[in-house]
Amino acid sequence: MPLANSFRPVNEVDTYRFELKTVFCTNCKLFQIANQPEKELMFHAKYPFFTGLSKNMTNHFKSFVQNSILPHIVSKRDPFVVEIGSNDGTLLKFISENSIRHLGIDPSSNVVERAKKTGITSLNEFFSFSTAQVIKEKHGKADVIAATNVICHLPDLEDLFKGVKELLADDGIFIFEEPYLLSMLNLVSFDQIYDEHVYIFSLLSISNVCELHDLELYDAESQSTHGGSMRYYVCHKGKQQQSNRLQKGLSIEISNGLETLDTYIQFEKNCEKKKGQLIHLIQNLKKQGKSISGYAATSKSTTVLNYCGIDSSLIDYICDSTPEKIGMVSPGSNIPIVSIEYMHLNQPDYLILFAWNHEVEIMRNEKNKLIESVRWIKFVPGVEIFINNG
Ligand code: TMP
Repeated sequence: MPLANSFRPVNEVDTYRFELKTVFCTNCKLFQIANQPEKELMFHAKYPFFTGLSKNMTNHFKSFVQNSILPHIVSKRDPFVVEIGSNDGTLLKFISENSIRHLGIDPSSNVVERAKKTGITSLNEFFSFSTAQVIKEKHGKADVIAATNVICHLPDLEDLFKGVKELLADDGIFIFEEPYLLSMLNLVSFDQIYDEHVYIFSLLSISNVCELHDLELYDAESQSTHGGSMRYYVCHKGKQQQSNRLQKGLSIEISNGLETLDTYIQFEKNCEKKKGQLIHLIQNLKKQGKSISGYAATSKSTTVLNYCGIDSSLIDYICDSTPEKIGMVSPGSNIPIVSIEYMHLNQPDYLILFAWNHEVEIMRNEKNKLIESVRWIKFVPGVEIFINNG
């Protein structure tokens, strides 16, 4: 596989490849990729992802702050909130506008610059135990450490949890949300697996990781974002009561076989089956002379395209709203990335919805913008052709 976000100009050769292979630990129950490329290759000054581009996600982060962060700090004098992987400051903006002390940490300088411009205090660093020590020294301990869709990106979980343990105030909480393993298995959304997602977490695995660091998972709340995510609530061991919904969630995972290897072997079979169905559909449409394009050059699409062997001979272009991606070609599959406006002017017969996790937002945006004959293709949960009903 190439790197999921290695969008590049058409004349630039990209030979970097790594083996994308998943493993499951029957001991600690972590599901993860076996090899991860060097982190500096993935998170750098040209990281092409800006959280604030999605209106739905921006609203989601607003409610994350209102429902999960603010209630915990409302009674505190001068609380301090840290966000790991703060990107362009979309989440911390809802903290800073309440005049709450905060610090965002992100390794990609371009997104950090954007955050700083909007008044978000940000540090351009990878979060680690040593960064946690420096932050603690300078700002004191954190009442809340938050992270969204980022903990699963960090290979050294050991160091990360050591850092959290170091930086978290005695009664502080660490809240993070990530794509959820049981949702991925149920939806066969294998495109959640790519270089940046080292882990796909479950309640069982996070409980085990916390245990190793004298921390405790005390609550969890499922989320509909990213095709099924889980919000984890962690505290110092023994500081909070374990919630009923967490206990219920753990039993559901056990009854769905998340502890056993067979479940993952079945997942592999389900992935192969879906791959066959998607290729078959696209090749058939192509044989009928239909034009096919993609909607949204997501990180996930790199896995779909390269795993299924779909390239520019089958798909004419992928449209996307991110200025940094437009004019580039897709990693490995070399499909041109164009603007949404270009797609409106050059409408295909079929549009493959690569951002299936943003379906509602995209269908709303595209309602009445496409000619009636355009059909959509999705592959999560199943491979199907559909019409935008708004
Ligand atoms: P992600 O699934 O890796 O978060 O990437 C989302 C991509 O989808 C990003 O490149 C922006 C693109 N996108 C659109 O082009 N239009 C949209 O309406 C939405 C929600 C996303």
